[in-house]
Amino acid sequence: MNIVIVGCGYVGLTAGVCFAEMGNHVVCVENNTQKIEQLSKGVLPIFEPGLEQLVIKNKQQKNLHFTTDLAAAIKNAAILFITVGTPMGKDGAADVSNVLAVAKAIGETMTHKLIVVDKSTVPIGTADQVQATIQAALDQRGENIEFHVVSNPEFLKEGAAIDDFMKPDRVVIGADSDYAFQKMKELYSPFFRTHDRFITMDIRSAEMTKYAANTMLATKISFMNEIANICERVGADANKVRIGIGSDTRIGYSFIYPGAGYGGSCFPKDVSALKKIAEAHGYHAQLIAAVEEVNNHQKLRIAEKVIARFGEDLTGLTFGLWGLAFKPGTDDMREAPAIYTIKALVQRGATIQAYDPKAMHEAQSFYLKDLENVHYVTSKYEVLKEAAALLLLTEWKEFRSPDFDEIKQQLVHPIIFDGRNQYNAFNLEEQGFEYYQIGK
Ligand code: UDX
Repeated sequence: MNIVIVGCGYVGLTAGVCFAEMGNHVVCVENNTQKIEQLSKGVLPIFEPGLEQLVIKNKQQKNLHFTTDLAAAIKNAAILFITVGTPMGKDGAADVSNVLAVAKAIGETMTHKLIVVDKSTVPIGTADQVQATIQAALDQRGENIEFHVVSNPEFLKEGAAIDDFMKPDRVVIGADSDYAFQKMKELYSPFFRTHDRFITMDIRSAEMTKYAANTMLATKISFMNEIANICERVGADANKVRIGIGSDTRIGYSFIYPGAGYGGSCFPKDVSALKKIAEAHGYHAQLIAAVEEVNNHQKLRIAEKVIARFGEDLTGLTFGLWGLAFKPGTDDMREAPAIYTIKALVQRGATIQAYDPKAMHEAQSFYLKDLENVHYVTSKYEVLKEAAALLLLTEWKEFRSPDFDEIKQQLVHPIIFDGRNQYNAFNLEEQGFEYYQIGK
């Protein structure tokens, strides 16, 4: 099938290469010329395991192309995916202007029957806006061309994007015509080896499903973080409580790891957007507001623990920090707890020595660009030099079983603040460490 993808971010690139890998002919469109030039050379704007190899392979096989020219790309398309960003606007609601700009461009350039798929996470009712925008542009041209707008939310996780896309738990399709359902099933069928995992529904329910899924997962995390904060006060251990409750199949083990809060491009943005969507429809979503509030506080939990141990004035103290990315396996620092932790400590006079296997460039160039007293080193043990304590914020594999003798030797005080509960408290205390974690 001829597929066009508009927007070369995580979702667009992953969908593009995976559809190409299944033998479709895919053209990825983006208005950032520099990005397209780089992608055409096989250079990716993001780090995602396995993605680069698949881009290079499918480009060589001529299944995958990159261009800034939507009009040329759309000429042969059967299905067009909109995968542009829907960032959090100033008011906390999702900003859909990129999506509507693409819709307008589609209406201005389309030449034949087309399925237009909203894959970006968009507020409920956006498909209707996309429909109206395309129609208005067609009317302007005096053209009457059939098109179908579909909602097909994406559930991939960064760091596991290719695997999630290739072996999805489910493919949600919201549409209002048999033609659209049938074409979408045709496209996705090769991704199901044993049985199909299509879930079909109306468009608004599909749009809502994405927000409900992400908010449910964020709720589990904030709930567990709240339990952890109570555990700390009552002398219980959240790690044990997690196992105690996770064994109940109705609760399950996943997404109940207490920690330094959730970050990333999806949870913070989508929880906020759903709260705003509810508000716009006259409903105050109390639980969703609380999920957000708990997380905003949780992102400062490690900084609070450092301050409780070393005092409000951290002048003259250096802290070694492991992990900047919002989670392992990515260089993405959007809403990463490390940003909030570092800012809180630097504000109080501390110096930070940081190391992350992938995200240091992002930190230096964007997220912590204007912050003084943050130094980046090239290996994990270097952060320890003259540091008063070690702070762990992202659970990269290389931090999981470090040489604790080396850590103890290098640190001024043998103190570890662990925002991801990676180590065995008993063993560390035996070795003479002061070990602080979340929920104990
Ligand atoms: C998430 C959803 O998982 C995915 O389905 C959706 O499409 C996009 O949003 P992603 O943002 O890539 O994916 O990351 P995910 O692995 O879900 O982690 C999100 C955040 O939650 C991370 O900061 C992680 O550290 C945190 N987390 C996760 C916890 O604090 N505790 C947990 O138990 C699980």
